[in-house]
Amino acid sequence: MNATAIVYTSGTGYTARYAALLSEKLNLPAHTLADAVKSLPAGTPVIYMGWLMAGSVKDYKKAARRFAIDAVIGVGLGDTGAQDDAARKACKLPADVPVFTLQGGMDLEKLRGPYKFAIKMLTKGMAAQKNRTPAEDRMLELLQKGGDYVSEKELAAVLAWAGK
Ligand SMILES: Cc1cc2nc3c(=O)[nH]c(=O)nc-3n(C[C@H](O)[C@H](O)[C@H](O)COP(=O)(O)O)c2cc1C
Repeated sequence: MNATAIVYTSGTGYTARYAALLSEKLNLPAHTLADAVKSLPAGTPVIYMGWLMAGSVKDYKKAARRFAIDAVIGVGLGDTGAQDDAARKACKLPADVPVFTLQGGMDLEKLRGPYKFAIKMLTKGMAAQKNRTPAEDRMLELLQKGGDYVSEKELAAVLAWAGK
């Protein structure tokens, strides 16, 4: 691991909480992307964390333009690890950059405007879908009822990569 900081983007707080947990475990400072562009020199090696939006890690491209990305972590609704390959493809990540996806959570109360609308549409679509897989059933339940999966144990693969 080369990273000297964690940089993250969080909409409703789940990614921010994972960033705080990882910051403690790896003993690295965590900055929001907005703060990092002001306070960290360009080219700083970082672990970039963002919430998953339509399969892609939010603001990864913006982070990659400014910093040297040591690893990427996406936080979404699916089971931890289940969306690693999909996130790599969606972000067009170079093969040598490790990617991890973690299960975060859903809190409709905290979503605003177009994001709330998009989630309502997604929920409607999934509810109407026949032959859902067990993973899709779990995702639908999370969308309908909300839930919070942020936990240190979800970071196991990231900590193993970091040698912790
Ligand atoms: C507009 C929108 C699109 C989303 N798309 C995905 C997605 O493609 N895959 C996924 O797993 N989660 C998706 N989510 C769920 C968020 O990634 C999830 O709630 C995450 O925990 C939010 O993290 P945050 O609290 O740091 O913003 C989406 C959420 C919104 C609002």
